[in-house]
Amino acid sequence: MVSEDLIKIVEQGFALRLDGIHGAAHWARVRNNGLRLAEHTGANPKVVELFAFLHDSQRLNDGHDPRHGARAAQFAASLRSSHLDLSDGDFERLRFACEFHTDGLIEADVTVQTCWDADRLDLGRIGIKPDPRRLCTYAAREPATIEWALAQSRR
Ligand SMILES: [Fe+2]
Repeated sequence: MVSEDLIKIVEQGFALRLDGIHGAAHWARVRNNGLRLAEHTGANPKVVELFAFLHDSQRLNDGHDPRHGARAAQFAASLRSSHLDLSDGDFERLRFACEFHTDGLIEADVTVQTCWDADRLDLGRIGIKPDPRRLCTYAAREPATIEWALAQSRR
């Protein structure tokens, strides 16, 4: 479970509107998507949850911001000793997942793939139906999973 403390730090450092398309509701849905997927993929749920709250936290706008993943990875590194209780391997998975989450990659460690799918499954919030060809895991590509995520993101 991600601590209230950490969520507060992320919210306080967020440059955009918390109720925007990359704000708190998106983080919560990515978390839910990711935890649901992790039950099937075997991803580390701790990394998936941290990814949900961190991956878009350093965005400077809601549009083209190609460095926001790299900044999120740096931000995660800055929090590591104080707020992230992760092994070296898990921290590296989190860092990698944040840095490259918008590069359209499909192949990676299963925990990283689960993070990316959790984010991509929330495209319904901007009117885009997730494309199974752009999802990494079987669990995410399941039509029932996509429909479920779409229903969440359109609420
Ligand atoms: Fe995102």
